[in-house]
Amino acid sequence: MTLVLGIETSCDETSASVVVREAERWSVRSLVILSQDIHAVFGGVVPEIASRAHLTAIVPVVSHALHEAGVTLDDVDAIAVTHAPGLVGALLVGVAYAKGLAAASDTPLIGVHHMEGHLFATSLVHADAEPPFIALLVSGGHTMLLDVRDWGDYAWLGGTRDDAAGEAFDKVGKLLGLPYPGGPHIERLARDGDPSRFRFARPMLRRDQQPDDPDYFDLSFSGVKTAVRLAVEGSADLDADRAHLARAFQDAVIDTLVAKVVRACRARGRTRVVLGGGVACNQTLVRAMEQGVGAIGGQVFAPTTRLATDNAAMIAAAGAWRFERGERSPWGLSAYAQREIPGLVRSRP
Ligand code: KG4
Ligand code: ZN
Repeated sequence: MTLVLGIETSCDETSASVVVREAERWSVRSLVILSQDIHAVFGGVVPEIASRAHLTAIVPVVSHALHEAGVTLDDVDAIAVTHAPGLVGALLVGVAYAKGLAAASDTPLIGVHHMEGHLFATSLVHADAEPPFIALLVSGGHTMLLDVRDWGDYAWLGGTRDDAAGEAFDKVGKLLGLPYPGGPHIERLARDGDPSRFRFARPMLRRDQQPDDPDYFDLSFSGVKTAVRLAVEGSADLDADRAHLARAFQDAVIDTLVAKVVRACRARGRTRVVLGGGVACNQTLVRAMEQGVGAIGGQVFAPTTRLATDNAAMIAAAGAWRFERGERSPWGLSAYAQREIPGLVRSRP
């Protein structure tokens, strides 16, 4: 049995979790997530405020996670902490605290890449969300399509050329006058939208694209964002058009994501698809993905809402896997704004 304490502070959620791995099965013993709602006032995450809020929250959040799991630091086999990528000041709070805890309790320390955490999240709730699978990670900061050949062995298929998927939802939310973050509001509004009122071109999706084309798996959201802006500017009655615009935007994004994932499954011969990141909370996306991937005989695994958005359970899980392989991070572990996922291969074989 491996019992890992996970700590996540890469953006605007202070989170700690105790996860146990036993006989190849996961159990989340506790998961505490403190979201910093203050950023909504500013329409986006303010890095300096995020760092300070993590500092205030980190000690009680970790204590609470240990308490809820009914364990003490003595029971912890390893402490896993997100050390990249993210806001450096925010990451540093988690890294420094994890190092202090690990040194004081003589517990091994494991630095975890935030996006590798997202890859593990769904496996905490679906025993079959195991490699090999195609992963679509769609969050506020990242958009990537990977072929997960095995844990720790990731082949890059495509990513966004401009905005991340969640960032596009948030920017379009702003254009439509919705609160930050816009994603959930757009999904809700789109339910009442008439899909025939507006139609936006599907970005980077052409019938004549070939698997060797550089944009075959890549994504882009700035064009559709501009199309929404122009439609908003041209609208005589935005209150009447808002839901239709939300629907048209969401349809364009979802159609594109589903088409790229189906291409990836076909090209790599995969039948499992794992979703991750905040945009995977979007149930319209999940249903459309299930339909598209189901039509080629595949299966889609989506995380729960709590595991889709930033959380420490996924960091503990990725850390547990690396710990069981014998990995340990040095005391010099640092925080990085940008860093490649360990085990990621960029060239397409
Ligand atoms: O993974 P996450 O919590 O944080 C990052 O690492 O960025 O993702 C946050 C993003 C935001 O852009 C938010 O608008 C988006 O996830 N999001 C959604 C939905 N719920 C959250 N986007 C579309 N539909 C949703 N229901
Ligand atoms: Zn994230």
